[in-house]
Amino acid sequence: MKQFPTLTVTNHPLIQHKLTYIRDKSTSKREFKALIDEVGALLTYEITRDLPLTAVEVETPLQKTECHKIDDRNLVIVPLLRAGLGFVDSIQDLIPNCIVSHVGMYRDHVTKEPVTYYTNEMHNPGEKSFIMVDPMLATGGSAVAAVDFLKASGARDIRFMCLVAAPEGVELFAKAHPDVPIFAAALDEKLNEDAYILPGLGDAGDRLFGTN
Ligand code: PRP
Ligand code: URA
Repeated sequence: MKQFPTLTVTNHPLIQHKLTYIRDKSTSKREFKALIDEVGALLTYEITRDLPLTAVEVETPLQKTECHKIDDRNLVIVPLLRAGLGFVDSIQDLIPNCIVSHVGMYRDHVTKEPVTYYTNEMHNPGEKSFIMVDPMLATGGSAVAAVDFLKASGARDIRFMCLVAAPEGVELFAKAHPDVPIFAAALDEKLNEDAYILPGLGDAGDRLFGTN
């Protein structure tokens, strides 16, 4: 039996190849962002695999035919600020009509607990599909709190996409939200004493935005 039934690790060779450069501390900020974009697009391909399709009629230059569309105007991408922003460009490139609804949360450096500082109002959340995005699932505190917020707002159909997950975070998240599938590029070894993922990639937000 799978250790974490709600976790899908997409260890496609291209993703593993790019993740190697993402992890490397000598990768520049510019390359880091470009690689996050590329892996974000590849993970989006996987996480949207089971989205329902609706039949539509289209007229090609030759004849009418039945084609299929996803309900992109009811698909909501929820980046967990800040680092989740790193995935937004690639998803919007692939699905330009999606809605982007931000949740601002940071992990208190002392307590390691998530602190919410920004949320967007939700309209008809029960009718929408949500993909929450954040490169890092460490203790899982931030992701659990963000999904708590989405569910309290009325969201029901939620998926979570990250780059690197720690076993501790997957366990906490799966306990709190067993109905929310997690898609990751890697399941790493463990957390260190500062709740950073090992081997991880360091602080994703700092590497994306040049802060520290
Ligand atoms: C990072 C990361 C996650 C969170 C994961 O954000 O982007 O949101 O930590 O840690 P957790 O699973 O232990 O909650 P951070 O709080 O560093 O904020 P930032 O995105 O603004 O850098
Ligand atoms: N947040 C990060 O950005 N990196 C970690 O390893 C843990 C939390």
